[in-house]
Amino acid sequence: MTIAMQTPQQQSNPFSRRSFIKGVIATGATVSASAYLFRGPEAVLGQGSMPGSVERLMTLNVNGQMRRVDVMKQETLAMTLRYKLGLTGTKLGCDRSECGACTVLIDDVPHYSCSILTHTVRNKKVQTIEGLEAEDGTLHPVQQGVVDEQGFQCAFCMSGFMMATVGFLKANPNPTRAELAHGISGNLCRCADYNKILNAMMRAAEHTRRATAT
Ligand code: FES
Ligand code: FES
Repeated sequence: MTIAMQTPQQQSNPFSRRSFIKGVIATGATVSASAYLFRGPEAVLGQGSMPGSVERLMTLNVNGQMRRVDVMKQETLAMTLRYKLGLTGTKLGCDRSECGACTVLIDDVPHYSCSILTHTVRNKKVQTIEGLEAEDGTLHPVQQGVVDEQGFQCAFCMSGFMMATVGFLKANPNPTRAELAHGISGNLCRCADYNKILNAMMRAAEHTRRATAT
């Protein structure tokens, strides 16, 4: 509004409601930005954050490494792993807890990472398909089982099946074929190659038992 269009009352008061709101917005933006830039994000998001707010910068324990990452409040673990940490071995199929392609281990238990908020896995151990191989390049027993039996066609579902099997075998190292099939039934294969997948996973169970016996 120009001066000419203002009422005499507005002209006598240089602090109009609009200029006041503009000032508050500008001041707030400047203060929060300068705090972030000059004092570091912890100062803004750490002790001084509002009650109920979530600290965005977090440290995730993934495959035995501590990874610092900036995570949005509603971000799923699958998104963080794939798009922030570059661990694209974790696949996204349905993105709604139906197919199991995104399965990872959290504290040794299989979970659908598409349906877990990353902020809920603070202080937990996350293991993805990239974390199975030993540092010297030795394949994990479940990887070896897949290589031996050539268990997959397109293999889009493979990492999810493998992580589900790794988790299942930790609790049930000597399953029957039916028990193993039931244990990993939360994973789907659109190539429907279930028989070969089970051959591979039963071989994986054998390798796992042999590895733990030595
Ligand atoms: S992508 Fe997570 S269950 Fe399908
Ligand atoms: S082998 Fe193709 S989706 Fe399972």
